[in-house]
Amino acid sequence: MRRMPITDKVIGKYAAKTIYGRNQRIPLVREGTMIRPSMLETMRRQGITWVWVLDSLFPDLYVREAVKNETLEVARKSLEDTFQLVQMDQRPSEKRAADLVASVQAMVEDIISNRDVVANVSHLRVWDNYTFEHSVHVAILTAIIAKHLKMTPDQMTRIGVGAILHDIGKLMVPQEILQKPATLTPEEMDVIRQHPVLGWDLVHEGFSSIMPTSSIVVRQHHERLDGSGYPDGRKGDDIYLFSRIVAAADVFDALRAERAYRPVYTPRRILQTIREETGPKLDPRAVEALLTHVAIIPEGEIVRLTNGLLGMVVTTNPGYALQPVVQVVADDRDQPVEREMLDLKETPVEVDCVLDDWPELVEERVAARMSRHSDAGSTEATAIGD
Ligand SMILES: [Fe+2]
Repeated sequence: MRRMPITDKVIGKYAAKTIYGRNQRIPLVREGTMIRPSMLETMRRQGITWVWVLDSLFPDLYVREAVKNETLEVARKSLEDTFQLVQMDQRPSEKRAADLVASVQAMVEDIISNRDVVANVSHLRVWDNYTFEHSVHVAILTAIIAKHLKMTPDQMTRIGVGAILHDIGKLMVPQEILQKPATLTPEEMDVIRQHPVLGWDLVHEGFSSIMPTSSIVVRQHHERLDGSGYPDGRKGDDIYLFSRIVAAADVFDALRAERAYRPVYTPRRILQTIREETGPKLDPRAVEALLTHVAIIPEGEIVRLTNGLLGMVVTTNPGYALQPVVQVVADDRDQPVEREMLDLKETPVEVDCVLDDWPELVEERVAARMSRHSDAGSTEATAIGD
């Protein structure tokens, strides 16, 4: 299985996990069903941005995520409702705020019950609605860090609520500045830098049932240990621990994304950049927990290795962020090779880049080779090295 963005390319693919829409009781597409054009339209209307599909080359690979699909959809729906109200200049009711807290609590329960040493966190590099998707991811990442820093379920929920709302102040920043595909002017930067205070005011006043410890995170998530952050230029322990954790998750998720003003970073660059920030700016314990327990390259990703080979990540290796176990299917010219399981931690090779999809013709070529081999039956051994 693998993740695919919602484009025409998903038509004809089989859903590898049940896809839930706004009405949680009735799935939009059940696991194992072929996705038809009408289903694609419904998913688009409901704001679904990606789906798990069966991969023709890896039909048996199952990826377990830190947060289950249905839990994630409830949280997305709840956050979407909240964002819509704020955009209409309305305050969320007590009930809405309570729903949001409950949806974060459900995510926390999934994260607590997940026993994987390294968690897979759903992620796509390209989003139509960056602030929204980023907010959901930061909530998940934050709760995972909190779990590994031995916080209680209640603390995990409080920090998760702060995390899911951390950028809500951006809803009050003009889109043309947020989406600007070039370097911002100092004036535009000043406008963006208002979002922690705008968000804090909003959560503080408008969400009376949200815990005060959650709203502090909204104000402090751009503060940095060396005092170089904003809006208050706080330093070290003067920044609340919850805020330091959200800051680490925020930076990590932003580095994973493709942004209007820069191309997508390689996994090595993501790792290097966050390590450079750790210590002077980001809390080392938070970053350590994150890099140890969240996959930089999750299972089910299509990857190109530094030696040019092409394959899919089938298992993560704790402590070896750039060197998971990869099943190789093609060479550096996308020609099929003997399928081989490579444990990269035993080699000098690492993942060079993550691809959104198989390069053109790879699926057809590899499938053709596989069927030739199965036709040949016991002659498989003769194919080695061809
Ligand atoms: Fe922010």
